[in-house]
Amino acid sequence: MTNYSYKRSEKYTDLCMIYKNCSGPGGLKLTEFLADKMKIQEGDKLLDVGTNRGYQTCFLAKEYKPFIIGVDPWGDAVEELRKNAEKWGVEANILGLKAGVPNTNFADFSFDKVYSTTTLEMLRGMHGKKGYKEAVEEIYRILKPGGVFGLAEPMHNDVKIPEEIYPYITKGDMPAPWTECFTTLEETVEVLKSVGFKIIEADKAPDAQRWWEEFAEYDPDASGQGGDAEVIEKDKGRWLTLGYVIARK
Ligand SMILES: C[S@@+](CC[C@H](N)C(=O)[O-])C[C@H]1O[C@@H](n2cnc3c(N)ncnc32)[C@H](O)[C@@H]1O
Repeated sequence: MTNYSYKRSEKYTDLCMIYKNCSGPGGLKLTEFLADKMKIQEGDKLLDVGTNRGYQTCFLAKEYKPFIIGVDPWGDAVEELRKNAEKWGVEANILGLKAGVPNTNFADFSFDKVYSTTTLEMLRGMHGKKGYKEAVEEIYRILKPGGVFGLAEPMHNDVKIPEEIYPYITKGDMPAPWTECFTTLEETVEVLKSVGFKIIEADKAPDAQRWWEEFAEYDPDASGQGGDAEVIEKDKGRWLTLGYVIARK
């Protein structure tokens, strides 16, 4: 645990509600951590890639006041984002579109900043390393020169998989086993560099383990035999982590 001060997100104390609406470790604290590092500010034109229900998107709009376009291609995510934006009173600052990377159809140089958490690793699981790289290339294309990409996703430490978790993380449908979705920070950095990004900062989130434990406790889908909570408890932070990269075009 660090001394990082989560001044904006600590106002939101209902962790059941946060983890019901966000879908990864950290919830709104992760968003604040990344947004501060990206220096998101009023008037920025920001793209949120993979909004899901848009809780983090609404938090960004409310606390940092950029104009946000949120994309998510699955199910009724855009509709849920719209409803949440109304509840948060930030509907004038958010436009949700049913779209996804790499096929966004945005013009080149459309955004000042791109934010994405707990999304691109799923593309690696579904479409392999090539699909992941295509998504990152698209983000590079639609950022303005000098624009900033803030990425955070579940990653794994560069260690042998602990025996106790091996059976769980090599199968499953999240939409692919964790071993096919998650990679190391080093590999992620290399992909971003290979499409042209300059890395400003890349590291494991200082509160990664605490956030995974919080996720295990509060995410409504994490419990049950062989569920995420059991894996997190057995792993004890040896293999699983959460990495982030701040990169500039
Ligand atoms: C695990 S959720 C993360 C939601 C949110 N960013 C958060 O951290 O709570 C991942 C989201 O990515 C969306 N997604 C799937 N394929 C995508 C794509 N090609 N481009 C953008 N988003 C995608 C899914 O629909 C899902 O809602």
